[in-house]
Amino acid sequence: MPAPAQDALPAPDLRANGLKLAYDDRVVVEDLDLVVPSGQISVIIGANACGKSTLLRALARLLPPRSGAVHLDGRSIHSMPTRQVAQRLGILPQSPVAPEGLTVTDLVGQGRSPHQTWWRQWSSGDENAVTEALRATGMLEHADRPIDELSGGQRQRAWIAMAVAQGTPILLLDEPTTFLDLAHQIDVLDLVVDLNRHEGRTIVMVLHDLNQACRYADHIIVMKSGAIVTQGSPADVIDAELVEDVFGMRCQVTPDPVSGTPLVIPIGRHHR
Ligand SMILES: Nc1ncnc2c1ncn2[C@@H]1O[C@H](COP(=O)(O)OP(=O)(O)OP(=O)(O)O)[C@@H](O)[C@H]1O
Ligand SMILES: [Mg+2]
Repeated sequence: MPAPAQDALPAPDLRANGLKLAYDDRVVVEDLDLVVPSGQISVIIGANACGKSTLLRALARLLPPRSGAVHLDGRSIHSMPTRQVAQRLGILPQSPVAPEGLTVTDLVGQGRSPHQTWWRQWSSGDENAVTEALRATGMLEHADRPIDELSGGQRQRAWIAMAVAQGTPILLLDEPTTFLDLAHQIDVLDLVVDLNRHEGRTIVMVLHDLNQACRYADHIIVMKSGAIVTQGSPADVIDAELVEDVFGMRCQVTPDPVSGTPLVIPIGRHHR
């Protein structure tokens, strides 16, 4: 039997009950319930503006609910100190902005701040976590460069490195593959699987590529107009009817020749 991972983390419990989320008078999500499967990779899919980022931000305590609650390890997340939340849960937002002039190493190092206290400042453990996150995201060679001088894809990988370095048992990733070429998309998704399988991290990520979602998700959460319309394993959830209902797009669904998971092939107006 394989030995358990050295740094296996205690299983987290993240759930939402009766969530209502709004911006001013625009209600985006109403009465949403979700139990995030612990120790699994969950992928949220849905059309633009259906509320995916809004939900993720609420799960990360960045957006207070109008009603309902998010519970982390049995406690209302909004009653928890920021630092305690940041030790359990990390988020890569959809459009993160770094202060001007910050280097990649500085940014990734900020992921370690929840682990520091006035009596225990920067340690060799922090140093190792940063170096390992830079290595895993292929950013070691850019470590000393300012963030604002990087390409879009390099910048995205620097942010992923920061979230990885934070070392939290829950990782929420909003479109982690944006700006990345296909090879780097697969690198990042494979890294997410490593973090899940080797370190036991619970992952929730938003993806637009349905085929990648089907390949990488243990659990797919399908959103439409601020509600979860269905969830489950990709094979159970994804078919042509669902894709047409949720995205208004006709397609064929066939087994992915590499992974066997559902492969969504759009039809479009110019092909039969
Ligand atoms: N800061 C904000 N202030 C006002 N309205 C907002 C704000 N952020 C999002 N919205 C609105 O809330 C709705 C849901 O947005 P959200 O960003 O959650 O969608 P999404 O599913 O993540 O879309 P995308 O796939 O384009 O990222 C949209 O109608 C959007 O215009
Ligand atoms: Mg979004």
